[in-house]
Amino acid sequence: MKKISIQVLTLVAALAVILTLSLSASAQDGAALYKAKCAMCHGPDGSKLAGHNLQTADVQKLSDADISGIITNGKGKMPAYKSLKPEEVKGLVDHIRTLKK
Ligand code: HEC
Repeated sequence: MKKISIQVLTLVAALAVILTLSLSASAQDGAALYKAKCAMCHGPDGSKLAGHNLQTADVQKLSDADISGIITNGKGKMPAYKSLKPEEVKGLVDHIRTLKK
């Protein structure tokens, strides 16, 4: 009995580590993707485009789904990024949330 509960604990601990690692990996990917694909227009901190400053409440009040939609479908002069995987789009949304001032 005791042995089983130790195995279960080990499994839970291992899962927790994997989850933490994959979450931080997605945040890092988001930052790297942002730098590669978005920063030339929006600036490294998101504030370069006047009127579309990613740090401001106007943008931060958009839902994750809204921002994901803008990234995948584009908006006005912003190009569409249709080839990004859903987890990459999510990483970008997470990164945009970190830009909030
Ligand atoms: C070629 C320049 C350009 C690139 C590259 C670009 N954007 Fe944009 N982005 C814009 C412009 C211009 C707007 C405003 C669109 C409009 O409303 O006409 C915009 C709007 C947005 C908005 C909505 C903000 C608002 O005020 O409407 C978000 C969110 C956004 N971009 C995120 C991103 C992300 C994430 C990337 C990288 C995957 C990216 N953008 C790449 C030019 C760009």
